[in-house]
Amino acid sequence: MLVEFIYTSTATAPLQWTELEVLRHECERRNQLEKITGMLLYDGKHFMQVLEGEEKKILALFNWIKADPRHKNVEAVINNPIDKRNFSDWSMGLITCDEKTQLQTVTELRGKRKKPLSYELLYAFAHHEIEIDDMLDAD
Ligand SMILES: Cc1cc2nc3c(=O)[nH]c(=O)nc-3n(C[C@H](O)[C@H](O)[C@H](O)COP(=O)(O)O)c2cc1C
Repeated sequence: MLVEFIYTSTATAPLQWTELEVLRHECERRNQLEKITGMLLYDGKHFMQVLEGEEKKILALFNWIKADPRHKNVEAVINNPIDKRNFSDWSMGLITCDEKTQLQTVTELRGKRKKPLSYELLYAFAHHEIEIDDMLDAD
């Protein structure tokens, strides 16, 4: 079954641009093999990621991702069946939300279609409309 799966998390430490590039390359490699597509947003502190693909593969990947020390407080937000992919061209698009031009990319993507839930969530995240509970960060 094809699903879209979305989670949010908090970066353990701020990631530099080069570290984000390394992360994106890791994502691309495995996701291409597993036919997983999606989008990863980073606002300097939090991640939100949309993963699309066969549910079994997504859940297996999510177990890997959850254990990654680069982030914590990893919380699944939605796991919805979908008819077709919204990010079929992206083995893993990366958007950093503090750059205006890239933020526009989300807006443009969203404008073209009839706004699937994943776009709504990405858009809200990019505009800091989603509160991610950092209470657990107190350590
Ligand atoms: C925020 C975040 C998102 C990630 N997304 C993916 C992803 O979509 N696909 C993937 O293969 N790895 C992703 N990873 C990385 C995995 O946790 C893991 O490090 C990566 O698959 C490398 O595995 P390898 O050591 O077997 O190469 C993500 C990690 C983080 C911190």
